[in-house]
Order: sequence, then C-alpha cells, then structure tokens
Amino acid sequence: MSDMLTQIKGLASQLRWAAEIDAPSIGTHSEVLCVGMGGSGISGDYAAAIAEPFGTRVSVHKGYGPVPPWAIRLRPLVVAVSYSGNTEETLDFTVSARDTGLPVAVVTTGGRLGKMAEDEDWAKIDLPAGLQPRAALGYLLGAALRVLEGAHAVDDQRLAFVEAAEFAGRAVEEGSDTWKKAEEIAGALSGRIPIIYGGGPISGVVAQRWKTQINENAKMPAWWSVLPELDHNEITSWETMPEVTKDLLGVVALTDRGDHDRVASRIDFTRDLTSDAVPWVGQVGSSGTFPLTRLVSLTVTGDLVSLLLAEQAGVDPVPVNTIEKLKKLLAKEDE
Ligand code: PA5
Repeated sequence: MSDMLTQIKGLASQLRWAAEIDAPSIGTHSEVLCVGMGGSGISGDYAAAIAEPFGTRVSVHKGYGPVPPWAIRLRPLVVAVSYSGNTEETLDFTVSARDTGLPVAVVTTGGRLGKMAEDEDWAKIDLPAGLQPRAALGYLLGAALRVLEGAHAVDDQRLAFVEAAEFAGRAVEEGSDTWKKAEEIAGALSGRIPIIYGGGPISGVVAQRWKTQINENAKMPAWWSVLPELDHNEITSWETMPEVTKDLLGVVALTDRGDHDRVASRIDFTRDLTSDAVPWVGQVGSSGTFPLTRLVSLTVTGDLVSLLLAEQAGVDPVPVNTIEKLKKLLAKEDE
C-alpha cells in the first residue's frame, strides 16, 4: 500500500507543478476534443467539468480514430493525453486528427506521442515520468488545463491550483477528516461491491474516478451511475434479487454544490425506495471554492477508499498486471 499512498500524497505537489509551468500559446478555441484512455483519459472528463462555465465545450473521446464527422466540421482543438505516450487508441486517433488537419496539442511523458508532437511541431507539455498514470492525475489534469488556458478556453487557473493543492496536502495527512471519512466508507464497504453515484458535473465525473480507482487499486469490481439518469432505469433494478444484492452491494453517493437542487431530493427518495435491497453505506460532499478543489476533494477521498479496500483485500494497489498482459497480447498480434 505504501508506494501508492506515496504517489497519492504527491497530488498536492503535482498541482503546484501545474501552476508553475508555462501555458503554451495555441490560438483561441471554444471547442476542444480531449482524447485519452484510462488514467489519462479521465483528465479530459475533469477538464470538461471545469471548462463548461467558461462557455467551452470539451468533448472526450476514449477510443480509436477516425475523427468523427462532427469534429471534421467544427474543427476542435484536439488535446491528446497519454501518460506513457504509447497508448494505441490515443495514437491512432491522433494520427487521424493530424491527417484531417485538426489543430493538436499533446500532454505526455514522451513515447511515440511525444515524438509525433516534436515531428509535427505541436504544442506539448512534458510530464515528469515514473508514476502509474492514475497516480499522475495532478500532472495530467494540470497540464490539460494549462493547454486550455493557452487556447483561451478557460481563465487562468493558478489560484485554483493553489487552493486545490492546499486541500490535497491537508487531506492526505494522517488523522484528517478525509482519512476518517475514507476509513468509515471503506469499513462499510467491507465485503461489498461498491456502486458510486454522482449527481452533477463534478460529483458525476468523480464517481467514475472512484470506480476506476477501486478497479485498479483494489482489483475489485465497482460501478458508477449518475443522477438524475439512474432514476429513470437503474432505480428499478433492485426489485428481483434483494436477497443477493442487500448483502453483496453498497452504494456511496457523492455530492457537490454544483448539483441541481432537485438532485438532493432525488438522492433522499432514491435511497428510501431502494435501501432495503441495496444498502447506502455513505455519502461524501465536496469541499472548496474552485471547481478544481471540489473535484480534488472528492477524488482524494475515493483514492484513499480504494487503498483501504486494497488493504482489506490483501492486494498490492500498484501493479495492473491484467492491463499490461492485454497490452502485450495486442502488441504481439501486431508483430
Ligand atoms: O491506469 C492505467 O494504467 C491505465 O488506465 C492507463 O492510464 C491506460 O491504459 C492508458 O495508458 P496511458 O495513460 O499511458 O495513455
């Protein structure tokens, strides 16, 4: 657990690093397309939540090319994010973006994506290497936001980086409220498959991060859904197997003050209507002024929960052997 904990503790310094790097100058764009997978790709989802109030649409593409017809028509700035720089889907899409003549900026530690950016003379932010991508969120998101700033797609985010870094630094100190909350939730989730609910642009995107952190750190299944949509389908799903689901699953709800007013009522009513069949084991509210801090506050709690679940399961949170095996199988097929 300790190495991943050290990496998670690095979030504050990663955000400070992002505040200090130069934002590349890349014209003016109100339409952005972030492409990336997994631990890198989620930085696009986070950037979309931050950019939306600025009138910037950040679409997120997680997969291969080709560039979709809407993007050929609207010509967004493509921001290709890959920590390793060698993720085949991201490379494939970026080649298609290049061949289509779209403007591209790159966030990476190097690899083939870094080389392509140099050959094409694209704006590029080089990240410090040596981490698991999911533990480099501060670098990935920070750099993506600085790219958006350089494209006049968001305002200067440096004050937000400082507030978020201060929060992240305090949150990971032993005995902090965040640790206590994480311990309470991990305890309540013991022996259960987590289902994470969010209800707005910030809580929804972090619900996804909790799911993937639990998958990769604790090597456990987990799911996420968002309100109000889940009230139109998933809410009915607990009717037929309560004897299984009540002992097997546990819902954690994430909330943020950016959630629509009606979402709070929906959470209460949804819990009342479903909790006999699926226990609601915890609720976490965001903290902070800036959207970035609110994202980070919910994220750190989830990261710590995923570590505690890894500890409960007796697994090392760092390696993701199955992902590596799959990448090798695909590479072999290519030879
Ligand atoms: O967490 C992980 O290791 C994965 O989700 C990776 O982030 C994903 O496979 C993409 O790799 P990269 O982040 O190097 O582009």
